[in-house]
Amino acid sequence: MKIDIKTVPQAAPPSLDPKNIAFGKMFTPHFFCCEYRGGQWQNARIEPVHNFSLHPAALVFHYAQAIFEGLKAYEHADGSIALFRPEMNARRFNASAARMSMPHVDEQLFLDAVNELVKADHAYTPPFPGSLYVRPTLIGTEPCIGVKSSSEFIFFILTLPAGSYFPELPSGAGAVDVLISESVVRAAPGGTGHVKAAANYAVTLQVITQAKEVGCAQVLFLDSSSDRRVEEMGGMNILFVDNGDLVTPALGGTILNGVTRDSILTLARDMGLKVREEAYGFDDMLARIRSGQISEVMACGTAAVITGIRGFKLESGDRIPVGDAAPGPVTNQLFEQLQGIQYGRIPDRHGWVTQVVPARAAVR
Ligand SMILES: Cc1ncc(COP(=O)(O)O)c(C=O)c1O
Repeated sequence: MKIDIKTVPQAAPPSLDPKNIAFGKMFTPHFFCCEYRGGQWQNARIEPVHNFSLHPAALVFHYAQAIFEGLKAYEHADGSIALFRPEMNARRFNASAARMSMPHVDEQLFLDAVNELVKADHAYTPPFPGSLYVRPTLIGTEPCIGVKSSSEFIFFILTLPAGSYFPELPSGAGAVDVLISESVVRAAPGGTGHVKAAANYAVTLQVITQAKEVGCAQVLFLDSSSDRRVEEMGGMNILFVDNGDLVTPALGGTILNGVTRDSILTLARDMGLKVREEAYGFDDMLARIRSGQISEVMACGTAAVITGIRGFKLESGDRIPVGDAAPGPVTNQLFEQLQGIQYGRIPDRHGWVTQVVPARAAVR
């Protein structure tokens, strides 16, 4: 489908110092938008960001028919701007849409829309270690009080200049404390944990607030079975260095197939590490950390890249420190590899990087 580019000339962007950008609060001037009506997508366009006018009965407000994605564009040293594995996000977006009974978005439209929007607002890409965060979203908009799938939808994409996800951390992998949610679960077999349904995040807000109150930056969720197996964080996957192997919970119906997770597993194999996809029970994980068998734990995702976990807090208030120092050596090595490829410093041997803006055009 053709995308109508209705951009409006802008004043020069404000200073984009990655150290001073609060994640999620600053938007570029344009967005992509497209409506689904009468069984088809129509009116694909890029235009200045504006509010939506929706009926208060729009299905998204009542029954949470909403999904989203998150990916980033990175400025390379030559001034070019590139996306990291956007086709994985396009595929995952459609997996989420199918699970939430929403219409398929042609992968080419998804990719073209992301490319065109990044091109239009590329001057808002902060320099290293910043990036331009891209947020594709799909919502059901038909006005109807009644639990059913919407017949009307809006697919839109916002772009946001991004600095560090954890601004309090020094540059590099950094390390945070994480609260283990022993009583609240985010996903269950047969549910929506493996897709990016907006509702998955709403159910974690209460415990995220509690985590912040006890000085934790993130929450680790366990599965809903009596084994209480370790699954993932509210917005990141988790990996362990166990006796020198890299271990992460296997994908199933309850864990998001993270683009960063997948990339790290590939990079770890490249580095000669043995990779195991298996889940620890909660008590087993704590015992391995206490004995030192697990020497490093890291969280990974598009927003936070790779972040070391320096300790877990339990609901009892106890704190379990991880390893000798966080981020540990494997965490740091994986971080350098991944970030090096994303910013074009390390050759892209897996074909993960898609250039959107060539070097000569990216002049501020
Ligand atoms: C629940 C959850 N797990 C893991 C991730 C990491 O996924 P990715 O690496 O694709 O950003 C995210 C972020 O999208 C997430 O929301």
